[in-house]
Amino acid sequence: MFPKNCWYVACTPDEFADKPLGRQICGERIVFYRGAAGKVAAVEDFCPHRGAPLSLGYVEDGLLVCGYHGLKMDCDGKTAAMPGQRVQGFPCIRSYPVVERHGFVWVWTGVAELADPADIPELEWANNPEWAYGGGLYHINCDYRLMIDNLMDLTHETYVHSSSIGQKEIDEAPVHTTTEGDTVVTSRFMDNVTAPPFWQAALRANHLADDVPVDRWQICRFSPPSHVMIEVGVAHAGNGGYEASPNLKAGSIVVDFITPETETSIWYFWGMARHFKPDDAALTDQIREGQGQIFSEDLEMLERQQRNLLAYPERKLLKLNIDTGGVQSRRILDRILKKERQLIETTNL
Ligand code: FES
Ligand SMILES: [Fe+2]
Repeated sequence: MFPKNCWYVACTPDEFADKPLGRQICGERIVFYRGAAGKVAAVEDFCPHRGAPLSLGYVEDGLLVCGYHGLKMDCDGKTAAMPGQRVQGFPCIRSYPVVERHGFVWVWTGVAELADPADIPELEWANNPEWAYGGGLYHINCDYRLMIDNLMDLTHETYVHSSSIGQKEIDEAPVHTTTEGDTVVTSRFMDNVTAPPFWQAALRANHLADDVPVDRWQICRFSPPSHVMIEVGVAHAGNGGYEASPNLKAGSIVVDFITPETETSIWYFWGMARHFKPDDAALTDQIREGQGQIFSEDLEMLERQQRNLLAYPERKLLKLNIDTGGVQSRRILDRILKKERQLIETTNL
């Protein structure tokens, strides 16, 4: 169960730069392309003629041309032309509200009348030249909430990511979780520890000694429907940790946009925004590669966990202290889902 009346990250513009992109989002098969005047468009990936996927076609003069018999679709889902035919009576296909912003394409698969682009989150790092961003995309066969659980409880770093960002002190340090409105924040601070390999490299990149004790922090923020931003970093120990002055620390924001494909699969947009050396493109590539490798370690765990859960749906799971962030995030999602159900029952939307 996922909310539909909200904006999800659908793709990045480079994914449909050369040809239309077909992607299933929240159970809907959608094709993304650049339509008239270069504006991004999203319509059903279903040709009204014979049901061919429009994503196998191409774009010509701002119209999406079906790759089967040449029907031309406009960005509102209306047929604009078809070789040798009059098209006035052709049925419309569905078009979706879609916005290009912050380097991503955002789509709304719920009731179109409710879509307000002002609800797309503000992302300071995406539009400020003092920040740099690099990221990637993974397809994972798991319920989107399993990924939220994963990101709202970083204890797993000690076990899943033991060679890069994991360290014993993570599961020894208590977590503190708070909920404010629709945002859940779970944080963990580790003082006077050894920096694990990933953070040693980040210290070096920031021209800081990498062999001295550090204070480390992880502050995970969930906001609906499924965005998790995690402030992470290390500072030379005893200088205020998270609050240390910029020349004594290396920190960044781990960016996670989790978009349901189906009930049991996701498009996972991961990345890292950093507030140091923003013009160093080689460093961006190096971090992206390191992060991509680390995050790929979660894939097998999540997919196998999902398979277990599907095989034993009646099994009750434990809720431990470390799970509080995920549990509270799910509570917010349950509330939103309930509201959506009521909306459908009480209106004609
Ligand atoms: S199926 Fe698209 S034009 Fe025939
Ligand atoms: Fe992980």
